[in-house]
Amino acid sequence: MVEGGKIVTVAVVGATGAVGETILRVLEERDLGVSDVGPFASRAREGGSRYRGRDLDVRVASDEALRDYDVVFFAGGENASERFATPLIERGAIVIDNSATFRMRDGVPLVIPEVNAHAVRPEHRLFPVANCTAIILCSALAPIRDAAGLRRVRVATYQAASGAGREGLDELLAGERALALGEAEPQPRVFARALARNAIPQVGAFDERGESGEELKVREETRKMLDLPGLAVTATAVRVPVRTAHSEAVFVETERAVSVAELAHAFEGTSGIVFHATGVVTPREVEGSDAVHVARLREEDASGGTRFAFWCVGDQLRKGAATNAVAILELLLAKGYVRS
Ligand SMILES: NC(=O)c1ccc[n+]([C@@H]2O[C@H](COP(=O)([O-])OP(=O)(O)OC[C@H]3O[C@@H](n4cnc5c(N)ncnc54)[C@H](OP(=O)(O)O)[C@@H]3O)[C@@H](O)[C@H]2O)c1
Repeated sequence: MVEGGKIVTVAVVGATGAVGETILRVLEERDLGVSDVGPFASRAREGGSRYRGRDLDVRVASDEALRDYDVVFFAGGENASERFATPLIERGAIVIDNSATFRMRDGVPLVIPEVNAHAVRPEHRLFPVANCTAIILCSALAPIRDAAGLRRVRVATYQAASGAGREGLDELLAGERALALGEAEPQPRVFARALARNAIPQVGAFDERGESGEELKVREETRKMLDLPGLAVTATAVRVPVRTAHSEAVFVETERAVSVAELAHAFEGTSGIVFHATGVVTPREVEGSDAVHVARLREEDASGGTRFAFWCVGDQLRKGAATNAVAILELLLAKGYVRS
């Protein structure tokens, strides 16, 4: 066991992508006692990653190259996680995986340290990081669940282009540029429609009921993280021409009557939440923030203290992915669960 967070070696698979690069930034910011960081991707790049003022060579991910690391962060999509995670776990390494591959597997914890750190056991080696929209939502829902119980959640999301990775952001920027210059817009490849100056009510593929992949993840992962398997959750996921940070308009029904003041107090007392009692908060303002920002809390008309609406915003590359991933490692180190 590594005592008190000392000397662990860390690999980042997908280090050149939107999430992987952010993991490197968050690791730099926190003093976790990491002695060696190895960046990996599907293609090698000399000096392709920067960490603590040094250019590091990016290597091609392989079983062989990853085998000596104590902790491996995956931010390389489903293929990379499916391909490389299992042998690492079997060997006893800690795998912290940003893809959806293992999230709903029985016996695998889906952890937001501020919400359900108790789900972590010493024998766990695999830690999927939940969907970014679900992390932001559950961070805001947990204090309501604890204060008044939760009966139903409805949410409409306003999701940033970088939620679809580097290519998503590039597609938005290319579309914005073309429109500004009066040129022909490039054909959309990442999104279902051109995103610049638009809003697209589709994030992921639709199933036979017309629900998108993102909407399904929000329901299933919210139930798992809040430990409320029967919670009614309905989401409409929308892509908007914002660069970074997802926003969500949330409508909840509580089990017990509660006041706005009591819920405000619950938000204010929760680590990782910044509660805005008045005014608004927008995605551009929270870029780079590790908190989930909650604003516009109000009771629905004549609800008897059981129906509320609020707005929440979080940087999905940080709180929705990289910061949560690194916070899981921090938690494991604090508990002494990382073997060196
Ligand atoms: N973007 C978000 O806001 C967000 C939030 C939460 C979770 N996630 C999840 O995080 C993961 C990464 O997303 P992203 O947005 O960072 O994507 P991205 O910007 O497209 O970056 C993908 C990274 O993965 C690497 N990669 C791709 N296939 C690989 C393979 N087979 N083996 C090793 N490396 C491989 C790429 O390297 P090459 O360039 O060399 O191919 C690149 O470094 C995805 O599973 C995504 O669903 C994303």
